[in-house]
Amino acid sequence: MTAIVSHPVLHVLGLRKEFTIRARGHAGILTAVDGVDLSIAPGETVALVGESGSGKSTVARCLTRLIEPTAGSVQLDGRTLGGLGWKDMSRAYKDLQMVFQDPNSSLNPRMRIRDIIEEPMRLHLQLSAAARRERAEELIREVGLDPMHLDRYPRELSGGQRQRIGIARALAIDPKVIILDEPTSSLDVSVRGQILELLQRIQRERNVAYLFITHDLQVVRKIADRVLVMYLGLVVEEGTTEAVFSAPTHPYTRALLSAAPVAEYGAVKERFVLSGEIPSPVDLPRGCRLAGRCPLVQPQCRERQPPLLLVPQPVAAQPPATPGVLQQHVAACPPAIAAIEDNPALTAIPPTNRL
Ligand SMILES: Nc1ncnc2c1ncn2[C@@H]1O[C@H](COP(=O)(O)OP(=O)(O)OP(=O)(O)O)[C@@H](O)[C@H]1O
Ligand code: SF4
Ligand SMILES: [Mg+2]
Repeated sequence: MTAIVSHPVLHVLGLRKEFTIRARGHAGILTAVDGVDLSIAPGETVALVGESGSGKSTVARCLTRLIEPTAGSVQLDGRTLGGLGWKDMSRAYKDLQMVFQDPNSSLNPRMRIRDIIEEPMRLHLQLSAAARRERAEELIREVGLDPMHLDRYPRELSGGQRQRIGIARALAIDPKVIILDEPTSSLDVSVRGQILELLQRIQRERNVAYLFITHDLQVVRKIADRVLVMYLGLVVEEGTTEAVFSAPTHPYTRALLSAAPVAEYGAVKERFVLSGEIPSPVDLPRGCRLAGRCPLVQPQCRERQPPLLLVPQPVAAQPPATPGVLQQHVAACPPAIAAIEDNPALTAIPPTNRL
């Protein structure tokens, strides 16, 4: 179950990625992404958070077909991807661009900035050389740089300037969705805020949707409409940023927020600590993947993987809806949800009003 988006620009169902790995001479299957559903509305920002190794970048790489997913369906602006011929595929992928964590390695050091920005236009748009040139100048201004930078090489720019070029390149063919994988984490703290503001301005002006991957919960709070929390290849909680930050429900989310600095946390600061080792993605436990680390574990948790269930909401705390998105706060932890239902301080919305 995921949020219901009336006209999603990106709609992903059951995305799965397994890697075949060899360890100590034996082949094994590593499940990096284990059936992820997500929908994004036009102009919406959805954050994907979770510890290192939870599968966030693998989701991004599958969606942009840098790697081939093992299973799942992806619809981009109503078109089902996969099974398309090269030409249709290339046309479809024009609408989905990616900005990487490290602009040093994602920009070709041997190309001038002008050629880096013009390259996707050459591949996807039928433009004359003069029109491409003019568009590159517009784009570089749009990301806050002077057109004189077009004749430079990536090494002649600062990290923040290089990330602006990464964004200009992603915008060059006017995509509907941009996947940003930790776009600010390699940058100086002073530059991060500027890049986030730039991304927000671009979104307002172009109505582009973002799938924003980050470890930084402060960034999530600042820019995301909704948030998906991943643990070992699964989404364990999803909701509006407001709902997830003010009433984190899954013990994994509670631990993530508890470990974050106080200013990032919307409600009462609690100390919620997980103990024990993260299971190997090559040998995942049968039931809840957090069972070995969870202070609230119960015997039934080890029997089967809990599904995502609706979290009862206090009636007064209904978050404002993003247009076209029927908000749902869901978490894959029946004991935590039962504890809310048993709490008389919270009035659960009748089930008929939840969907
Ligand atoms: N090419 C690959 N071959 C084998 N295993 C891989 C490959 N790429 C990723 N993995 C594994 O898949 C799992 C998910 O990795 P992924 O990079 O998606 O995590 P992540 O959530 O992006 O982590 P981080 O926050 O550190 O970037 C990890 O266990 C990782 O080791
Ligand atoms: S289902 Fe059980 S083990 Fe898993 S997070 Fe909830 S309480 Fe903990
Ligand atoms: Mg990653």
